[in-house]
Amino acid sequence: MKLLKTLQKQITIFDIIKSSDFHVHLKKKSPLFACSISSSSKMSKKKIYVTRADVPSPGLELLQERCDVTIWKETYPVPRSELLTQIQGVDALFCLLTDKIDKEVLDKAGDRLKVIGTMSVGYDHIDVNAVKSRGIRLGYTPEVLTDAVSELTIALLLATSRRLFEAHQQILELWSAWSPVWMCGAGLNHSTVGVVGFGRIGQEVAKRLKSFNVAKIIYTGRSDKPEAKSLGAIRVSLDDLLSQSDFVIVTCALTPETKEMFNDATFAKMKPNAIFVNTSRGGESAALQRALENGTIQAAGLDVMTPEPLPPDHPLLKLKNCVILPHIGSATMWARTEMAVMTARNILAALNNEVMPAEVK
Ligand code: DGY
Repeated sequence: MKLLKTLQKQITIFDIIKSSDFHVHLKKKSPLFACSISSSSKMSKKKIYVTRADVPSPGLELLQERCDVTIWKETYPVPRSELLTQIQGVDALFCLLTDKIDKEVLDKAGDRLKVIGTMSVGYDHIDVNAVKSRGIRLGYTPEVLTDAVSELTIALLLATSRRLFEAHQQILELWSAWSPVWMCGAGLNHSTVGVVGFGRIGQEVAKRLKSFNVAKIIYTGRSDKPEAKSLGAIRVSLDDLLSQSDFVIVTCALTPETKEMFNDATFAKMKPNAIFVNTSRGGESAALQRALENGTIQAAGLDVMTPEPLPPDHPLLKLKNCVILPHIGSATMWARTEMAVMTARNILAALNNEVMPAEVK
């Protein structure tokens, strides 16, 4: 506890959150705060391991008030060996998308582990079958980050199509005068935008895109989405989406079905002027690099990539037509705080044999 308090003192942003109107606002706005949870006496003996020190404090405090919480002391991912040691004998694990939770971790945990709460909407870092086959419950954090990720998707789309980073570099290096076609990019107006995966985030992106006067929004996914109608979005096959879209936006979850969906063959089906934006999970970097270098497509904007983190000397980082951000889609303090709180509530609910705010079924 003492160590944790010291750590949190050092992370000033969380002190700000604790004491500012922001947290009050969060408390008022979040539907999660309406959930009931057990009294501390019931939960006092439960042991929880948290894999990162800088989890927003409202989430940590919920757990600390009720349970025996151990927290990895650093703001970088817990080493595998430490995770394998700390997981032993805990009732719950609070993890992040940087922690690989596989059979080895679950075997080390033993029978006591009842719940895993990941502070993420994606759970491709977790072996869900292995978790479920052991009767362990799994919580995740949908919805609370939808606005943040949609906003970032639009920001990345504009940064890529209007060449913002390249233009900034030019101003530092060789801007001589305003010039008619210098630094021209593609506009969204009159364009066809294809959204791959039309879930919560895809729909919110489409909603925001409408204000840019795009000509057509098309999407592809496993099923028709009723929400598409009011957004004027039309479901098409993946091939049609690739061949028609000026902008291809990937917002789908990473599953065996979508893994490496963007490869040499799919990039080859896209228009040469196409701009590819991915804010969901990393795809095949080598194929994307080839597509950008050979002019198969015009440009790409990535918030996610393989591997993460991308080494600073990676060839994708040298391409002018590739804008890369370090997986910051959900990085607003509001979203990250809500994610932490929701993860804590998922864990507490499962430990109490209650309905979790968001459980992977
Ligand atoms: C998630 O939660 O899965 C996002 O990729 C990061 O917030």
